[in-house]
Amino acid sequence: MNKAEKKQGDGGRFEGTTFQDLLDLENVEVPEYLRIKSNPHLGDEDLSVDRYISQEFFDRERDHMWSRVWQMVCREEDIAEPGDHHVYNIIDSSVIVTRTPSGSIKGYINSCLHRGRCLRDESGTVNEFRCPFHGATWNLDGEFQGIPCQWDFEHLADRDMSLPEVKTGTWGGFVFINFDHDCEPLESYMDVMPDHFSRFPLQDYFKGVHVQRVMNCNWKVGAEAFMESWHTVETHKQILTFTGDENSQYDTFGDNVSRSVTPMAVHSPHLENISDEAIIRDILKLSGRMALDSDEGVEMPDGISARRYVADMNRELFEEASGQDLSDATMAELEDAILYSLFPNFQVWIGYNGNIVYRFLPNGNDPHSCIFDVMILLRYPEGSQRPDPAACITLPVEEPFSSVPELGALGPVFDQDDANLPAVQRGMRTSRKGAVSLASYQESRIRHLHATLDKYVDSP
Ligand code: FES
Ligand SMILES: [Fe+2]
Repeated sequence: MNKAEKKQGDGGRFEGTTFQDLLDLENVEVPEYLRIKSNPHLGDEDLSVDRYISQEFFDRERDHMWSRVWQMVCREEDIAEPGDHHVYNIIDSSVIVTRTPSGSIKGYINSCLHRGRCLRDESGTVNEFRCPFHGATWNLDGEFQGIPCQWDFEHLADRDMSLPEVKTGTWGGFVFINFDHDCEPLESYMDVMPDHFSRFPLQDYFKGVHVQRVMNCNWKVGAEAFMESWHTVETHKQILTFTGDENSQYDTFGDNVSRSVTPMAVHSPHLENISDEAIIRDILKLSGRMALDSDEGVEMPDGISARRYVADMNRELFEEASGQDLSDATMAELEDAILYSLFPNFQVWIGYNGNIVYRFLPNGNDPHSCIFDVMILLRYPEGSQRPDPAACITLPVEEPFSSVPELGALGPVFDQDDANLPAVQRGMRTSRKGAVSLASYQESRIRHLHATLDKYVDSP
């Protein structure tokens, strides 16, 4: 395909090999959510680097944005039983999210109503929340149970001593909180996402891998690294044989949701004359999210494309993993990189097994670093017991992701990203231009993130 055949006005992609063109080759019914194209032009102005490097902008995000958005805290399976709780720290705030005896999920501000000590220093399991300082106690429903030397607190007898709460919500087995009691419900905040994920009940998947590491860049620099596939051509050259990078489709939905769809098991438009055998050999070895990661290669039957071959192989292995009949699954859903993001910092892949999840949290009050979480959601056979969720592996900042065997081929890919991110942060700080310029189409999800961010930081 040569560059003269580019579709005009439709991004920098190549006729005949776009994601929509590939959908025409499906031999099962294509669900509507894959057919949608939604990319309203949001402008081409530069973005000031202040948005990534200034403490003043960071503080505005804290006061006007983080205080009002839905944010993913943990998996429901992380707090499966009454008393299980997760401590969620975000900038200056700390919240305890817990399972109550009735099975509901509640979130409490993690601060003792006596002299303010955090009630819990870390996640765990308790029968009650007992402050480690002087022993004031609340039950799992947040009701005050008492404090030693009660006689000295008669002046508090008429006060409401229940733990202040934050809003909680769940979707797909994820727990979310919102500090704003007047916020819109999580379901409407998520816009098209619940509908688009209806074929993928993530609440029935389990957390098979969880790795967390500090990254030396602003949380948005981290998040944005996963919002466009076009850096593949320079940063992840080893996957070009099986990645339709420049043929990716980018969509935005409302204020909070966007997605990229990158066709896999087709070669990049940047390469020519790549055989199906080469595509299959490399995707099995290097993709990190095919059912069978191996470097042995396969014998290709005649008359079948790499795309169909890999999809069929995944179908068989994913069916085995879940006990689910996947005869109506499209090739796209079986192998493509279909990645959604929910404003501001939660990202999750479509798919029947091995769905990757990313989250980028500010690291304390530092605009120049963030905390990156990656999870991989897996299936277990229907009717069998849900495996325990993987414990979080906290990787020291100087350790490469490739040192975590659980990440497989994803580890080296993240290391390639990590080679850029601190350098992006440093480069922005020394920039004389003082601004970044975005690609009109392929970086439209980044523009969309900032457009929504503006609606928060510019509001009272
Ligand atoms: S600060 Fe919690 S009991 Fe005193
Ligand atoms: Fe990357």
